[in-house]
Amino acid sequence: MVENANITAYMKSKGFDDYETFYKWSLEHRDEYWDDQAKELHWFEPWQKTFEWTTKPFFKWFVGGKTNIVYNCLDRHMDTPVRNKVAFHWEGDNGETRSMTYEQLYVETNRLAKGLQNLGLKKGDRVAIYMPAILEQIIAVLAVARLGAVHTVVFGGFAANALRDRIIDAQARLVITADGNHRGGKLIQLKNITDEAVAETPTIEKVVVFNREGLDVSMKEGRDIYWHDLLADIPADTVVPCEQMDSEDLLYILYTSGSTGKPKGVVHVHGGYAVGAYATTKFVFDIKDNDIFWCTADVGWVTGHSYIIYGPLMTGVTSVLFEGTPAYPNPDRWWSVAERFKVTILYTSPTGIRGLMRFGEEWPAKHDLSHLRLLGSVGEPINPEAWMWYRHNIGRDELPIMDTWWQTETGSIMISPTIIQPLKPGSATRPLPTIEADVVDKNSHSVGLGKGGFLIIRHPWPSQMRTIYNDPARYQTYWETLPDVYFAGDAATIDKQGFIRVQGRVDDVIKVSGHRLGSMEIESSLVSHPAVAEVAAIGKPDELKGEHVKVFVILKNGFEPSDELAKELKLHVRTTVGALAVPEELEFTPSLPKTRSGKIMRRVIRAVSWVSRSVIPVHWTPEHKTYPYHCVPDYKNRSRQNLVCSCFYSRGHIHLVTM
Ligand code: WTA
Repeated sequence: MVENANITAYMKSKGFDDYETFYKWSLEHRDEYWDDQAKELHWFEPWQKTFEWTTKPFFKWFVGGKTNIVYNCLDRHMDTPVRNKVAFHWEGDNGETRSMTYEQLYVETNRLAKGLQNLGLKKGDRVAIYMPAILEQIIAVLAVARLGAVHTVVFGGFAANALRDRIIDAQARLVITADGNHRGGKLIQLKNITDEAVAETPTIEKVVVFNREGLDVSMKEGRDIYWHDLLADIPADTVVPCEQMDSEDLLYILYTSGSTGKPKGVVHVHGGYAVGAYATTKFVFDIKDNDIFWCTADVGWVTGHSYIIYGPLMTGVTSVLFEGTPAYPNPDRWWSVAERFKVTILYTSPTGIRGLMRFGEEWPAKHDLSHLRLLGSVGEPINPEAWMWYRHNIGRDELPIMDTWWQTETGSIMISPTIIQPLKPGSATRPLPTIEADVVDKNSHSVGLGKGGFLIIRHPWPSQMRTIYNDPARYQTYWETLPDVYFAGDAATIDKQGFIRVQGRVDDVIKVSGHRLGSMEIESSLVSHPAVAEVAAIGKPDELKGEHVKVFVILKNGFEPSDELAKELKLHVRTTVGALAVPEELEFTPSLPKTRSGKIMRRVIRAVSWVSRSVIPVHWTPEHKTYPYHCVPDYKNRSRQNLVCSCFYSRGHIHLVTM
């Protein structure tokens, strides 16, 4: 397997046979490496320059090149045997299945592109896609990008307000949605939620509705149109040529949570993003002709964009798309999907693994998973226990696990082993070629091996976000928080072998089941409730979800804490942000620690509330440290070196006793 690895073939072509010397070479030959990757894709016009800093920290890749990522996903394969290969095997929540070849996907994408063109959609327009995990969701994404319009996919678990805010920020002209769908047996009324959101979005002109469930939904005259009506007169041989896009033209905006209340619209482009998603799919998952690839993420998150849609389609692999949930109707649903479709590569999340671990080893044991040859993990740190379970029960104690670290902002995988490198449970191991990742102090100096610090990357890479939509200043903070480097917002260590262990966020981002949420989004939802005066939301370590949301609530005068009120407040978060943001713990409190200027000190609250749960290890040397409130280190991971044994807060300082 190692001899045949895609990465081995490339290394050999450059005269290397071990990864570390090759990696060092790649740092010195960044442009050559990316030129080689880009040349495997189709360009209407070649680029003149590989990389250019414009006005730092803004930059360009493949300057002057003309391409369209959809051409690389579909059109390019129409002259090759990939044309007749299955692009997606799909399974619905209720067990129905459907498969679609590359050619069929090409045909349906062209038909929808024509339909959207008939509605007046053109290059540069923004389209919100709020759909379930069905093949039409993928067709919608590809049709929009084919026309050179910009998609913003909104996760189907978000509520109306969240959808509304994203549409408003993107100034979308169109929403593509479905009547509704079932997930885990529960009905989600997507069209009703869309109606509620669109009632407050002046830019939306049309709502295209795919009839998934045959629900009786209201259709607004002149605004709403059914997908099948839009396509009724469009024949199967319709071709809408791909819009020829500049490398740096917008492909999509994907909203993600940061430290402030407003989600940020991360911008990705056609050229560099395609090259990054393609190269990482090829090298990390070592895609071969006969593979069946299954990424269990949702298209509403970046993992779905890069590793359900774009990366796999560019490599021409057969993928699986699954609409349901891991344990419905039984805790072996995933294993049964993997068995029936003969999945060879499984890419999933630590939360997914931990969730299924609970039900016991007998569930995967019922299924023949012998087709699997490679496993992957993404979204949050994978605890060694889950890693071992995954490897033993799913990986037959022999399959490699690619623990892949990356972000919405990075567009594609940055730190991960490839199948030729050694693994270590709980570590994403080494950076991919050209990625100059390091762990540094606040002056961007390397902290050295074995010490904790901030995870950074020293030079731009092709699939990096180009800006934050309508907010370039917010983009600049990524390069200005620490001098001259890209600040990822994570804490990490590098061990003596040079392996990177990512520990978790150092900002107010909460990772619930691998889904990214902002403290402020939850806080602003709660303060919009009439009973609430002030709130602090924090993430608390959770054995299953990685973290869960805990909120501290100060009530307005005249309101009394009660279980009913707590319930009502949780429901309020569910209906304004979405089920994924609902606080698991809600505590009424008379006061919250604040800075002199009145800012709530979440870190203090976080440290104090975590400490009360942490286990004091057997071997430890007490050490008393005092931190000003703003540099309390992050203890999210409770790794042994960092465990807080006790702590107290006084006069603007938090006092921590660490091991
Ligand atoms: C976390 C998801 C540890 C990290 C692709 C990062 C990880 C954030 C890993 C980005 C990993 C992602 N090990 N932590 N393998 N992968 N993370 O934007 O905190 O949803 O900053 O992108 O997830 O989350 P996002």
